Amino acid sequence: MSKIIFSGVQPTGNLHLGNYLGAIKNFVELNNDKENQCIFCVVDLHAITVKQDKDELKNNIRETAATFIASGIDTSKSIIFNQSEVHAHAEGSWILSCMAPMGWLNRMTQFKEKAGKDKEKASVGLYIYPILMASDILLYDATHVPVGEDQKQHLELTRDIAQKFNKDFNCENFLKVPEPLIKKKFSRIMSLKDGLKKMSKSDPSDLSRINLTDSKDEILNKIKKAKTDSYPIPNEEIKLKDRPEAQNLLGIYSSISNQTLDETLNEFGGKNFSDLKVQLAEILSNKISPITKEIKKLTNDKEYLDKILLEGASKAEEIAGQKIKEMKKIIGF
Ligand code: AMP
Ligand code: TRP
Repeated sequence: MSKIIFSGVQPTGNLHLGNYLGAIKNFVELNNDKENQCIFCVVDLHAITVKQDKDELKNNIRETAATFIASGIDTSKSIIFNQSEVHAHAEGSWILSCMAPMGWLNRMTQFKEKAGKDKEKASVGLYIYPILMASDILLYDATHVPVGEDQKQHLELTRDIAQKFNKDFNCENFLKVPEPLIKKKFSRIMSLKDGLKKMSKSDPSDLSRINLTDSKDEILNKIKKAKTDSYPIPNEEIKLKDRPEAQNLLGIYSSISNQTLDETLNEFGGKNFSDLKVQLAEILSNKISPITKEIKKLTNDKEYLDKILLEGASKAEEIAGQKIKEMKKIIGF
């Protein structure tokens, strides 16, 4: 049976190596499999759960779409669109929010992290963000959802919500329960400055991440300054225990060069981090620079990007519009 793949990325600027290795690189592999129907969404409604600048948001929507295409997603095969263009997402989100108990949402760790200490001031949107995500996925009968490790809990919630809807309305299998596609290894790329913190676009230090728009010199400089420890690189994975920075750099190297951690340890075991860093910076530049160049070229062609997004939205609308119609009928509207 062919797979229906759905995933989303927020247009909040600064797409980085974590987004690429944790998500977008997998999108491209899935896109390349002829059997798959892939739908990739620029989730702009999710982005406004925190304050956005109007003009920046518009640019970031185009830049995220450009990043998908520059990374290798083929728009003649996969659908790329932005969420706010397809009404069913917000409508589905409301319906599902009436099914999901608050207790389920109260467990979401990302909300706790993002809301911080003063959660009374966080937007209600940020709180129900995972329900909109469930709506995104369930409207397309997605069978598989490729994401980084940080989205695992949101996907479990999506599965629970689908099952509850089917049970509450006695419509077995109406909402398809999706499978997460999370790489077992390297699905969580950490900050270059702190191996215990996730690489993130919201980290105030730009040295903590490699942005997909960084120049070769910036990549070189950031890798040079990346935190390591003072021991040599070991030969075995077990010896990486309690060495988060070492684990992270070796993981990034393995992931970007499509090899296992064991192969990387064979290559670098006994050497110093300076050796690894030289090669890591080189391979990162070689892989990322063509993407960066293509992103720049595409973002200069706003008309082209807007056309891709519009065509994508029209295809998405056909699928999601039909599903929401059926959903409303089931409810009794
Ligand atoms: P976001 O930019 O938060 O919308 O995330 C887009 C995708 O990138 C999601 O699938 C995330 O799980 C993934 N992602 C974000 N940060 C990281 C990271 N540091 N390591 C691995 N995957 C990540
Ligand atoms: N919440 C995801 C993130 O921050 C983005 C997202 C929104 C998403 N809707 C989705 C991912 C649907 C997968 C499927 O990374």
